[in-house]
Amino acid sequence: MEKSFDWGQLKRMGAYLKPYRRQLLPIILVTMILGTLSKLAIPYLISLAIDIAIFNKDGNLLVIYASTMLGLYILQWLVNNYRIRYINVIGQKVLYDLRYALFSHIQNLSFRFFDKRPAGSVLVRITNDVNSLQDLFTNGVVNLMIDCVQLLGIVIILLSLNFKLGLAIIVTVPLMFIVSGSLRKRIRWAWQDVRMKQSRINSHLAESIQGIRVTQAFTQEKENIKYFDDMNSVNKKSWDKASALNQSFGPIIELTAAIGTCILFWYGAHLIESQELKIGMLVAFANYIGNFWEPINRLGQMYNQMLVAMASSERIFEFLDEKPTVGEKEKPETLPLIEGNVRFDNIVFEYEKGRPALKGISLEAKAGESIALVGHTGSGKSTIINLLCRFYDPVEGRVLIDGHDIRDVTLQSLRSQVGIVLQDTFIFSGSVRDNIRFGRLDATDEEIEAAAKAVHAHDFISQLPFGYDTQVEERGNMLSMGQRQLLSFARALLANPRVLILDEATASIDTETELKIQEALKTLLIGRTSFMIAHRLSTIRNADKIVVLDHGNIMEEGTHEELMKQGGIYFGLVEAQYKFLSEAG
Ligand SMILES: Nc1ncnc2c1ncn2[C@@H]1O[C@H](COP(=O)(O)OP(=O)(O)OP(=O)(O)O)[C@@H](O)[C@H]1O
Ligand SMILES: [Mg+2]
Repeated sequence: MEKSFDWGQLKRMGAYLKPYRRQLLPIILVTMILGTLSKLAIPYLISLAIDIAIFNKDGNLLVIYASTMLGLYILQWLVNNYRIRYINVIGQKVLYDLRYALFSHIQNLSFRFFDKRPAGSVLVRITNDVNSLQDLFTNGVVNLMIDCVQLLGIVIILLSLNFKLGLAIIVTVPLMFIVSGSLRKRIRWAWQDVRMKQSRINSHLAESIQGIRVTQAFTQEKENIKYFDDMNSVNKKSWDKASALNQSFGPIIELTAAIGTCILFWYGAHLIESQELKIGMLVAFANYIGNFWEPINRLGQMYNQMLVAMASSERIFEFLDEKPTVGEKEKPETLPLIEGNVRFDNIVFEYEKGRPALKGISLEAKAGESIALVGHTGSGKSTIINLLCRFYDPVEGRVLIDGHDIRDVTLQSLRSQVGIVLQDTFIFSGSVRDNIRFGRLDATDEEIEAAAKAVHAHDFISQLPFGYDTQVEERGNMLSMGQRQLLSFARALLANPRVLILDEATASIDTETELKIQEALKTLLIGRTSFMIAHRLSTIRNADKIVVLDHGNIMEEGTHEELMKQGGIYFGLVEAQYKFLSEAG
């Protein structure tokens, strides 16, 4: 898991700073030039004050030196204020851009991407990983440059003021790096460990909050708390270890600084004796050394910060590099207004290699026909629908709409003409009205109400505290399953698609509502090609064609009457359901 410094990645991150070059440049220049000059000039002025003004007892000159120094201190203060204020602003803008890029990229990724990852881990990337780049973008990059320049400046000054003394002190730096080498490595590992533990906690957290109802229903709270507690304490331990190691780095630098100071006074005194150095210069040296270790210490910390940022940016780029598996071809056509002839042409499909979910499906729906898909759970009903909406691409075969292979057309033009009520209806937080409007964003309020009325959702909506303006929480927790389904019906109807798909749409609706829905469906289906999946077989009795699936194969195909006469699987399913219902009732 040891990761070395990845310059390519750093460069890629740097590209996010590019749009702000013009704003950054003055800040960098000002802090670099004015900040460094004023900082480096002060110790030199001190030496002049001692060696010239005080040595010659020249009070006026001393005042001039002192006030120049004061001026420089004020300048430094101003420069720092300026830098901190504007760098933060730019840093936040970069993070904003990055979050935007990440979110909009993820929006377009295909189902396969989300199949592979828990929602929690996707979440963590947009929040934590981007946040952990904050330090890098707000202070990191600029501080790094400034520190390097300052260090270089000090080295040059020390060597040019007194080459021998300068050299004697500077040799302690590589010494420190050698001594601290293994420690730095351990620190790096420790932080990597912390990050891993943390991302595990985050994923678990998201999952357990999403699953809280199941947890409570099965009274697994205690176990869940214990599991979290274990993770939490492991996480804490790794933090403790990392920060303890980190803190042991400071004393090493202090020790080296102390050695440097010893060398300075011992060798400096020597040089003063032999008249090669004046006292003021010795004081200046002491000052420079003070300034010398500060940036080195910061660079050490910064190195860790960089590694954290590196790990985060790696994860961010992993997502950004992810291509939608269902992509548009080079120059996709726009699917013209369709009539609704759908043809599945010998479709083979697998979610995972070697486990085919559809094993050669050929199926045709003429414009306006209603097709019902039935079959045992896991037989491939939803999968057929997923392919029609092009959430996935088939491994073999093609799906044609009005003769167009759906891989040749833009996703927008395809999906805008295919309406779907998914098996797990999703209600977004917002008003009921907004949730219906999701079907077609430019719909008027009247159109929304008309759609709701058509699917018999209007009655229950009017009874909500604020009617259409009632706020439903995320996932529509305050609505019943049936109500949620009615809403998604209205949503699909509003979109007015030529091809309509209802996956299990009537599964959780009571008999009375179901009758209403049946009525609504009749109007809803007129003139549209429709694919209906229903476990309640009474719902699909009137379909133009019933298709019976089993383990990814089509077993039977025909109208209700034909299939009943045939006495095959469908007949068996109807019999079983009838028996079950009459026994239960
Ligand atoms: N996202 C997925 N990743 C991997 N395998 C999947 C995925 N979705 C479905 N499958 C598998 O594909 C097969 C067909 O699933 P599909 O969802 O089409 O069944 P279904 O007929 O709709 O069942 P149900 O009536 O329970 O909704 C099943 O064996 C299922 O395990
Ligand atoms: Mg299904």
